[in-house]
Amino acid sequence: MEIKVNPILAGRKALIVGIANDQSIAYGCAKAFRAASADLAITWLNEKARPHVEPLAVELEASITAALDVSKPGELESLFETIQRKWGRLDLLVHSIAFAPKGDLQGGLLDCSAEGFAKAMDISCHSFIRMARLAAPLMIDGGAMFAMSYLGANKVVPNYNVMGPVKAALEASCRYLAYELGPRGVRVHAISPGPLKTRAASGIKDFELLLNEAARKAPLGELVDIMDVGWTCAYLATPFAHRLTGDTVYIDSGANIVA
Ligand SMILES: NC(=O)c1ccc[n+]([C@@H]2O[C@H](COP(=O)([O-])OP(=O)(O)OC[C@H]3O[C@@H](n4cnc5c(N)ncnc54)[C@H](O)[C@@H]3O)[C@@H](O)[C@H]2O)c1
Repeated sequence: MEIKVNPILAGRKALIVGIANDQSIAYGCAKAFRAASADLAITWLNEKARPHVEPLAVELEASITAALDVSKPGELESLFETIQRKWGRLDLLVHSIAFAPKGDLQGGLLDCSAEGFAKAMDISCHSFIRMARLAAPLMIDGGAMFAMSYLGANKVVPNYNVMGPVKAALEASCRYLAYELGPRGVRVHAISPGPLKTRAASGIKDFELLLNEAARKAPLGELVDIMDVGWTCAYLATPFAHRLTGDTVYIDSGANIVA
């Protein structure tokens, strides 16, 4: 779909965390924000990821780039110091990261270890709370935050396993953060895309079945792509959405409404 975009996010500063490659949901968000003229800060996980992400950051004319592993003490703080120094503000934050150790992800929840559960929760959920804490003081004219969830937060999706409870916690965290940050004009959105073939998705057993099921159920009859997610987040980032906060926004061609 060809979409003509006005520079409605011009002057807005957006931090995008979670680009691994050009299939990442975070890349769709970055592209849509940039198309609407936002300035971007883009991170990569580590030196191994850098060659895959840096060219995308160049393409999107990101004015800040940095390595960020949210499990490494100090890296998040150092990124926000850079944002404070270079921009002095932040308007938009996209958290599009998730992780669970393979053994814990691919076994049932009954067999999930305490360490695996804690690690999945820390990287996929608590890191959003840490980011929100650092981002909020920089959102001097209000702002919007986005965290990527999935249907498995609310319904049992076979093979989603430990990520179900983790995404449920993430969606609840979005509601509580929306409540706490609302008085500062900061909106918080949990975004729930339908299944997309990304690197993270490749860790989920029988992912093809999820894709088929989503396509079969969707009233609109089609799977979503990363730009569908990006454009919706770009809309939520604009003043058109200024009375929306705390909800989970499904971007799934309507599949979630069908039993
Ligand atoms: N692909 C899907 O079907 C789907 C559907 C709904 C929600 N989501 C969610 O969307 C988000 C993005 O996933 P994706 O599908 O684009 O896959 P992806 O593999 O492209 O992105 C996952 C990102 O998480 C990052 N990450 C993992 N551990 C990290 C850490 N310690 N510090 C910083 N970054 C770390 C990776 O570097 C990668 O960039 C995830 O939260 C995922 O659960 C995905």
